[in-house]
Amino acid sequence: MQLVSGKEVSNKVKDEIALEVQKLKNNGSKIPHLAAVIVGKDGASQTYVNAKVKACDRVGFNSTLVQLDEDITEELLLLEIEKLNSNIDIDGYIVQLPLPNHINEQKVTESVDPKKDVDGFHPVSLGKMLLHLPGFLPATPYGIIEMIKHYNIPTEGKHCVVLGRSHIVGSPMSVLMARKDYPGNCTVTLAHSRTQNLDQVAASADILIVAIGKPEFVTADMVKEGATVIDVGIHRIEDVSKKSGFRLVGDVKFDEVAPKCAFISPVPGGVGPMTIASLLKNTLLAVKGK
Ligand code: GUN
Repeated sequence: MQLVSGKEVSNKVKDEIALEVQKLKNNGSKIPHLAAVIVGKDGASQTYVNAKVKACDRVGFNSTLVQLDEDITEELLLLEIEKLNSNIDIDGYIVQLPLPNHINEQKVTESVDPKKDVDGFHPVSLGKMLLHLPGFLPATPYGIIEMIKHYNIPTEGKHCVVLGRSHIVGSPMSVLMARKDYPGNCTVTLAHSRTQNLDQVAASADILIVAIGKPEFVTADMVKEGATVIDVGIHRIEDVSKKSGFRLVGDVKFDEVAPKCAFISPVPGGVGPMTIASLLKNTLLAVKGK
């Protein structure tokens, strides 16, 4: 069994980005600038956004954090977005999801200038992805593609099962794995909460990508011997044996699934760090696209 270490691959990606930033600085070119908008004080979102800002520091990007009140109106949030769209110093930005219930997420996503859409969530970005045109890939699927490449995991002709059909992970992942490319050329099944015989479908996968949002959902009986398993989930579960009182788990019951796998990504240290590295890559792409 080979561990798919997103931590290791993301460090390599960040080193490469830092070198490029150094070159830009040496040429007197503009330093890439990423902004993040966060609405409210959701703990998990704060953690993710802080990690994104820290990653900017590490590679030498400028970063701006726009922290807004939980009860901001949709109208005012859209005004903040307009400011970021017209600010020529900002190359790309993200609006951390989820947003409070009174705000229409789709409307917000569609207000982001597609040229600055480093999350790859705008319909223009998703359309380009579908057509295999150059553009911003959503950060998590992009990170998974890069990990598969790094470990030379065979994909051509394989059966890839994606569990979960979210707009930001499962759906784009299914498109990327079916592309006429490497990684890709898979026969893809997109399974979800209404799928019949989900256990058998999962167990038929050569490559199982799990983004279903349920702690330790995938058990050993749902995985084929020799499969590749990529775990997108991250959850805090209570654990009195830990000083913090909790531990992090994914959507996969790692201890019992890992021995059956050819490749498996751990949680933490798997997909998570790659998502951030991909966001930085997209920001560099936004700079070059100018
Ligand atoms: N919430 C969970 N994942 C993501 C992500 O990749 N980007 C943003 N903006 N919000 C998220």
